[in-house]
Amino acid sequence: MTTLLAPPAPCAAAERIPVAAPWLDAREDELVREAMAAGAISGFFGEHISRFEHEFAGFCGCRHGVAVSNGTTALQVALAALGIGPGDEVLTATLTNMATFFAVLHQGATPVPVDIESGTFNLDPRQLERLRTPRTRAILVVHLFGHPVDMGPVLEFARRHHLRVIEDCAEAHGAEYLGRRVGSLGDIGCFSFYANKIITTGEGGMCVTNDAALAAEMRSLKSLAFGEPNKFMHRAVGFNFRMTNLQAAIGCAQMEKLPEILARKRRIAHFYAEHLADLDGLQLPGEAGYARNVHWMYHVGLRGPLAARRGEILRHLAARGIETREGFIPFNLQDIFLARGLTRREACPAANEAAYRTFYLPSGPLLTEAQLARVCGVLRGALAQLA
Ligand SMILES: Cc1ncc(COP(=O)(O)O)c(C=O)c1O
Repeated sequence: MTTLLAPPAPCAAAERIPVAAPWLDAREDELVREAMAAGAISGFFGEHISRFEHEFAGFCGCRHGVAVSNGTTALQVALAALGIGPGDEVLTATLTNMATFFAVLHQGATPVPVDIESGTFNLDPRQLERLRTPRTRAILVVHLFGHPVDMGPVLEFARRHHLRVIEDCAEAHGAEYLGRRVGSLGDIGCFSFYANKIITTGEGGMCVTNDAALAAEMRSLKSLAFGEPNKFMHRAVGFNFRMTNLQAAIGCAQMEKLPEILARKRRIAHFYAEHLADLDGLQLPGEAGYARNVHWMYHVGLRGPLAARRGEILRHLAARGIETREGFIPFNLQDIFLARGLTRREACPAANEAAYRTFYLPSGPLLTEAQLARVCGVLRGALAQLA
């Protein structure tokens, strides 16, 4: 397709601005060396695992943390611990990283996509009643891009119908709903520590909960469900979803940075809001009255005639060294699920409306004001040329 945008100026061989780069320094190096020196490199032992679990769960307002290999396995082990499997339906926000749905499907359960609110792009609690069936067992909410879901009505609905609530917090470490941190609101909160997440262990994840029995079940299931007193008489069909102590050592170092990372994410979001607010064609992320948004990524939507021009705009930014990502494609528009008859295209109209018009801007904690200003300037230029 031809682009109507002008090619980059010859002097624009500018520095590349990544969409997200982790903040790693000598402290991660030091703690990984400590783990190495202790010979604690697996997921079985090492003081960093329990330290990271304790500190991160405490940060979320939970008593228990179970570190796992990534955010997808965190969701799967949470579902497994709740006994969710074949024959069960799980109500899940359609607009998410498909890892959320994969976890449900890997458990043999049936995901039921729930449409979104167009303001926050999060699950719309008003849709839940219509989608409930006698087989509904759980609600899997996703705090998308750092903005918490409107949990009050979700929890009330779950209580009324005896459903379990799992929070996918992969993108929302530290986000708050009415002053309470996400992960502590439902039965289990599941986090990812992938390299672009708010804190990282390279790959990694954690389940947090206030329920001691669920924590014990997840701890067992993530590590092959070894038996007792005979270790090799297994008590269930377990997984090996262990996080290694080396990864946990990085996690401990990241915990020290977490308050500053959250402060920087908010500063980045404020900068973008201040410098982009006058652009009519752009929908900026907000913060509902109940919410503290941690702005994992600064996720914007194109409006009006610009909604169809996302590809051109992102190519314009890329040609000037600015990396972006397109927003997620909802479950109900994924060919693999349509082909299997798991959903219908028209199942979630609000998500469909949002699907091809959103993207996110560079949001890593190491971005400088000069870089943010350049992103705003280039984006503004792109929109002006297309308007
Ligand atoms: C909303 C959401 N859920 C789950 C995941 C899966 O996490 P991971 O990549 O650590 O498996 C991710 C991110 O990758 C995500 O953004």
